[in-house]
Amino acid sequence: NAAPVVTIDGPGGAGKGTISRLIAERLGWHLLDSGALYRLTALAAAKHEVALDDEATLAEVARDLDVVFVAEGEATTVLLEGRDATTTIRTEQIGDAASQVAALPAVRQALLQRQRDFQQAPGLVADGRDMGTVVFVDAPLKIFLTASAEERARRRHLQLQEAGVNANLSSLLKEIQARDARDMQRSVAPLKPADDAITLDTTRLTIPEVVDRLTELLTERG
Ligand code: C5P
Repeated sequence: NAAPVVTIDGPGGAGKGTISRLIAERLGWHLLDSGALYRLTALAAAKHEVALDDEATLAEVARDLDVVFVAEGEATTVLLEGRDATTTIRTEQIGDAASQVAALPAVRQALLQRQRDFQQAPGLVADGRDMGTVVFVDAPLKIFLTASAEERARRRHLQLQEAGVNANLSSLLKEIQARDARDMQRSVAPLKPADDAITLDTTRLTIPEVVDRLTELLTERG
């Protein structure tokens, strides 16, 4: 498969989602939100009352995931088993369950091909934790996007406030640190930069600044 891929990995809240969407729009490329697949697996497991440590059944749930992504301009609607799951999969509870199912090798294996199927012309922007280290190892441009845990908690807090959700900054910080630890310490596909990744710390950068920097890198790499 010759379609080019840009991988954008990093911890939650570093701005990967927004940045990946903007870069994909700018290039006119496809977008893979791999975190959504783990979140959908967690949601489907909850629906079907599968325990979060039942690896074999969770892998089946992941493999059989009935999901449709409907792109409508800037927004993408996610349908799970025909029902709108767009906002449900964004809750902290599902994020936490996603991080638990994502630690299971059989679940990761079950989602591998589904993720690779997104690699289609004219190109793909792949957003996740292991896009550059596991799923698209041959990608010509790999970015590792980070920001301090405090800054990521602050951004998440702002996002929730804008959505009218009450949240506590210090408990958000604790959740972010716990999720980072779990994502970095797991034995399969731990969160870490690929050897050939370019790390970009966004703590003191605005979204347009990050997009400009990545566009520069893309131009340099042809
Ligand atoms: O990026 P997002 O917060 O939506 O991802 C939810 C969880 O899914 C992460 O905390 C991580 O544990 C897991 N994940 C993963 N590999 C990916 C994307 C997400 O393990 N490529």
